[in-house]
Amino acid sequence: MSESLDLSKKNVEEAQTTLDGLFEGLADNRNIELIADFDLRALLPALQEKNWGKFNWFPLEDGPSIWRVDLTLLNPAVSPRGIEELFTSDHQRCDEIFVLVEAAAQAGDLDKAKKNFAEFILGMNHHFAMEEEGFFPAFEQATGMTQGPTMVMKMEHTQMRGLLMQMQEAVNKEDVGEISQITSTLMVIMRQHNIKEEQMLYRMGGMHLSNQADTILRTVQAL
Ligand SMILES: [Fe+2]
Ligand SMILES: [Fe+2]
Repeated sequence: MSESLDLSKKNVEEAQTTLDGLFEGLADNRNIELIADFDLRALLPALQEKNWGKFNWFPLEDGPSIWRVDLTLLNPAVSPRGIEELFTSDHQRCDEIFVLVEAAAQAGDLDKAKKNFAEFILGMNHHFAMEEEGFFPAFEQATGMTQGPTMVMKMEHTQMRGLLMQMQEAVNKEDVGEISQITSTLMVIMRQHNIKEEQMLYRMGGMHLSNQADTILRTVQAL
């Protein structure tokens, strides 16, 4: 991430004012890593209220002493936000972190691999939660399809969670061979899973949930 903004030692109001300043102008794809010594979620309701549709917000570190968030400023005229766009951009984001884990492990830089893996596993678990607690239930309710695609996707999440746990163990053991073996398996499953969601489920969701998309997205963003 090219820019970072440290909000530590600021109170919530001061931090909000600083964030508001970022939204002056029509930036598109300006990416900033927010850092704080408090849970950055405290800033989200006001940010959503004032700037909804103008940013992506994904967690990078979730306490207990440091919180970091990947904030991307978006110009809605260029990059509109809907179910399809938000979830697809998070797939791409997690893929990019995954590549960094793999590269660091292959280069033998285990400190970097550990740091990147911590961001990756947090991102993946957050992504699964956004789908399982927000998007999938709304999709099932709107379509009546409870035994269909969402059921298959949840089974694949379980499979990927298992691989992430194995990978965590391999990272802890600093076993580069095992990391790369699990990485290859996870890469294949993740790619296929994401293609199914992007080409089918998110599109269907976008159609069936158009009138409640904002509510769903605001809720999942705060998870
Ligand atoms: Fe998924
Ligand atoms: Fe997904």
